[in-house]
Amino acid sequence: MRVAVFSARPYDQRFLSEANTAFGHELTYFDVHLSRETCRLAAGFEAVCVFVNDELDAELLQEMQGQGLRLVALRASGFNNVDVAAAKACGVAVCRVPAYSPHAVAEHTLALILTLNRKTHRAYNRVREGNFALDGLLGFDLKGKTAGVVGTGAIGEIVAEILQGFGCKVIASDPNPSAALQARGVVYRSVEDLLPDCDIVSLHCPLTPATRHLIDGPAIARMKPGVMLINTSRGAVVDTVAVIAGLKSGAVGSLGLDVYEEEAGLFFEDRSARFIDDDVFARLLTFPNVLVTGHQAFFTHEALSAIAQITLANITDFERHGRATHEVSVEPAPARP
Ligand code: NAI
Repeated sequence: MRVAVFSARPYDQRFLSEANTAFGHELTYFDVHLSRETCRLAAGFEAVCVFVNDELDAELLQEMQGQGLRLVALRASGFNNVDVAAAKACGVAVCRVPAYSPHAVAEHTLALILTLNRKTHRAYNRVREGNFALDGLLGFDLKGKTAGVVGTGAIGEIVAEILQGFGCKVIASDPNPSAALQARGVVYRSVEDLLPDCDIVSLHCPLTPATRHLIDGPAIARMKPGVMLINTSRGAVVDTVAVIAGLKSGAVGSLGLDVYEEEAGLFFEDRSARFIDDDVFARLLTFPNVLVTGHQAFFTHEALSAIAQITLANITDFERHGRATHEVSVEPAPARP
């Protein structure tokens, strides 16, 4: 199938091209995001392959359907950036990679927790400058602390297991509890009931209308003062302005983000020679107890291999059977527990 691959970084091209030797699709790579300005590049292609910050709204999908588009192949698990209902309405199928390496994201989540707690990012710089003072580097034992995992699907389940390995008491919230975690002693609660008891809250639910700004001002007010908040799911699950207020008051003790609600204009690019014109994001970076990574939790060798394989297999399925294995269906958003 002829596939226009957008937001194609050198590493995407490498892993997709390697995997494609077994599939034989005709892949054309575009470094740019897919947008109204760039969609003409995909004219005549039956499929586009897109990533998390390519925004496919109804208008764009209709225009592209008119150019011959039949399939949107997401090389990601989250699909909040595609108007799936609008795609269906104009006869364009949408498929995704539901799980590639949940371990990659889970392990990065732990990297954020451990770094924020023991401040190894600050220690690294201090030691290199000959500063061996320990002031400001005080952490806490994870053993015995209570960690709340919101969303215990593929990633959250592994995060919960790893945290149990550190000796944390894990409580969770998910409209579809994991029987495996329940068997390991994890107790499920509503998000509201979970928050007051947690020393650490880690978010692993999808972004849906029900989870947009799930962590807002009132939610932060329910949390233990000084809580560590970690978000590796989708940026808009957290109300960034509210969390900044929480950091300023001390209600939030530390914040680890791999995602940011306005990341589309920022992440995945080298912007080091420019200034950041997003004042909310710039404010976040002023806090010593905030650690931001640029949506890299998925970024392991194993994950990129699996993403490439599953994406291309989805496209082959669609080409052969008119339906991809991992097609995204239009379902009502899960209720907020
Ligand atoms: P998954 O679909 O396996 O699990 C999501 C879980 O969240 C499900 O069990 C679901 O029932 C639960 N959920 C839905 N609504 C909820 C709510 N209101 N409250 C609590 N739980 C709720 O998804 P997976 O693979 O575990 O990924 C989780 C999220 O992580 C993805 O949706 C994606 O947004 C994000 N992600 C981030 C990556 C990164 O590089 N930072 C990479 C991959 C995924």
